Amino acid sequence: QSEIYLNGMLAGRTPAITTDLAGLEERAREVLPPEALGYVVPSAGSGATARANRAAFDRWRILPRMLRGAARRDLGCTVAGTDLPAPVLIAPMGVQTLAHPEGELATARAAAALGVPYVHSTQASHSFEQVAEAGGPAAPRWYQLYWPTDREVCLSFLRRARAAGYSALVVTLDVPLMGWRPADLDRGFLPFLDGVGIANYLTDPAFRAGLARPVEEDPGAAALHWAGMFPHPQLGWDDLPFLREHWDGPILLKGICAVEDAELAAEHGMDGVIVSNHGGRQVDGAVAALDALPAVADAVGDRLTVLFDSGVRTGADVVKALALGARAVLLGRPVLYGLALDGQRGVEHVLRCLLAELDLTVALTGHTSHRELDRRTLLPA
Ligand code: FNR
Repeated sequence: QSEIYLNGMLAGRTPAITTDLAGLEERAREVLPPEALGYVVPSAGSGATARANRAAFDRWRILPRMLRGAARRDLGCTVAGTDLPAPVLIAPMGVQTLAHPEGELATARAAAALGVPYVHSTQASHSFEQVAEAGGPAAPRWYQLYWPTDREVCLSFLRRARAAGYSALVVTLDVPLMGWRPADLDRGFLPFLDGVGIANYLTDPAFRAGLARPVEEDPGAAALHWAGMFPHPQLGWDDLPFLREHWDGPILLKGICAVEDAELAAEHGMDGVIVSNHGGRQVDGAVAALDALPAVADAVGDRLTVLFDSGVRTGADVVKALALGARAVLLGRPVLYGLALDGQRGVEHVLRCLLAELDLTVALTGHTSHRELDRRTLLPA
């Protein structure tokens, strides 16, 4: 914040991208090509879930406390064995080259520059190894699994992720099938079938072994082969022991909203859950993720690491999610908006703004650490 004011007052330089993170979407709409815009911004069906995600934040108000010594704050924390400068991670998002030619590489570099964990999607436009190299050996990184129908490919993904230094495994459960997304359906556009976002597959020895002809000779057939591997609607809770057996780090289940599912996650030996409705991209008319959070945190918060995403746009939003029981939040679309607007620098800008606004909100509400936030921090609007 002081850097921005000093640049403005002393050097007449204002930020290249707005600091109003909630207004980023509007800016990104101006630069994203139509197909990318249709894939990245919209939600499932009528968009009711994404609107509910935002409305849920508006139903809570922060109650500031005074004269409690806010000169120094400490937002550092450890989540699933990973040290974070603040309780914020980048949500796993695939096909990032739709937003910018450097895609995940730019995002991983920005994340590494700030020490914010990057979560690598199975549907990324760059491979595990490329992204790990871009972030560098010290950068914290997790891997998000979309479980392929072929177990050999699944095992190969887990092995490659481990070898490339991804420390925790996020298993996304809320895509047993793709949601009904009119913006993509109206264009008949699915990036993966264009070969975008399947880099992990195309570089995988187990996947390539199943192809009649090399990827380079017949990319179309490779994309169709991919379509037989994802999604995987047959999966059930009974499949989780397989992952426990083959992944020796923390495992978090993403897409949990029901308390019963959080309990099942605990019973199945998982380490955490991510309360999320996929940013409203899967079930139209679903519960706002923030409304699902308190009950899940109350039920399993002492046994599991409870994280949150879907609708986080500002520092105040992060404070609200933490006060309602999340240990940390994941940031989705705003990262892609920053990426679309200015590549690595754009993502860094978004992260720095969010972290600065979070730090400031913690201070302005009379706290020295986000750990002090709890239900007493909030009042219903
Ligand atoms: C996603 N999300 C997602 N989730 C996941 O587990 N694997 C993935 O590959 C993707 N891909 C993806 C692409 C795009 C373009 C978007 C916008 C989202 C969902 C993501 O991790 C997260 O749950 C939501 O984006 C959070 O909501 P907000 O912050 O976008 O409102």
